Amino acid sequence: MAAQKTLTIDIGGSGIKAMVLDAEGNPIGERTRVSTPKPAKPDAVLPRIVKLAKQQSDFDRVSIGFPGVMRNGVPLTAVNLHDNWIGFDLEGTLSEQLGKPVRALNDADVQGYGAISGKGVELVITLGTGFGSALFVDGKLVPNLEMGHHLFRGRRTYEEHLGSAGLKKAGRKKWERRIHQAIAALEYLFNYETLYIGGGNAQKLKRELPPNVKIVPNVAGLLGGIALWRG
Ligand code: BGC
Repeated sequence: MAAQKTLTIDIGGSGIKAMVLDAEGNPIGERTRVSTPKPAKPDAVLPRIVKLAKQQSDFDRVSIGFPGVMRNGVPLTAVNLHDNWIGFDLEGTLSEQLGKPVRALNDADVQGYGAISGKGVELVITLGTGFGSALFVDGKLVPNLEMGHHLFRGRRTYEEHLGSAGLKKAGRKKWERRIHQAIAALEYLFNYETLYIGGGNAQKLKRELPPNVKIVPNVAGLLGGIALWRG
């Protein structure tokens, strides 16, 4: 079989990103981005994905990172997009529109695949519009870890404190302090070997991090797309 090229799409609350990966998962060509429509209903988002796909070089299959809980490629939640996504046949509809096989997984799970080493307990959090989380044990994903809507510091959730809205409300310094509190809480809970922090806002962290915490480049959200076709 000829080497497979994978178009990976990362659907975020503010932007939709795309990149093509070669058979080894290395990027081919440029990462492209369009803004996420508001309201972000399926019939508004899908044409933008098709547009991004057309701008990219040839590809054989498509991986999607979706910002919600996924089961068998179908969203069960979509807090930062629109409720019309719940139960929507994302893989089937997009596959029909692009004429290629499509697989979809939670965005933080895809990001994690692009970042982890595959050894021991590895936790991934993503700082963007939402607060994403993914857990891996020896490279195997524990599906649907949803820390974002779990309580953190009183009556608010991780996402309310640490997502983009929380950053705006608290200001960068306070937000960063809270991230460090969250890191301590998460280490106490998961006893991970490494914690990876991704997402667009990860670059805003300035203070020194514990040695087992790593910032991953935003592109990891797309690099992980190859993992959806393994095995
Ligand atoms: C969603 C998660 C998602 C995260 C980052 C949260 O609001 O519930 O599933 O991974 O945002 O996009």
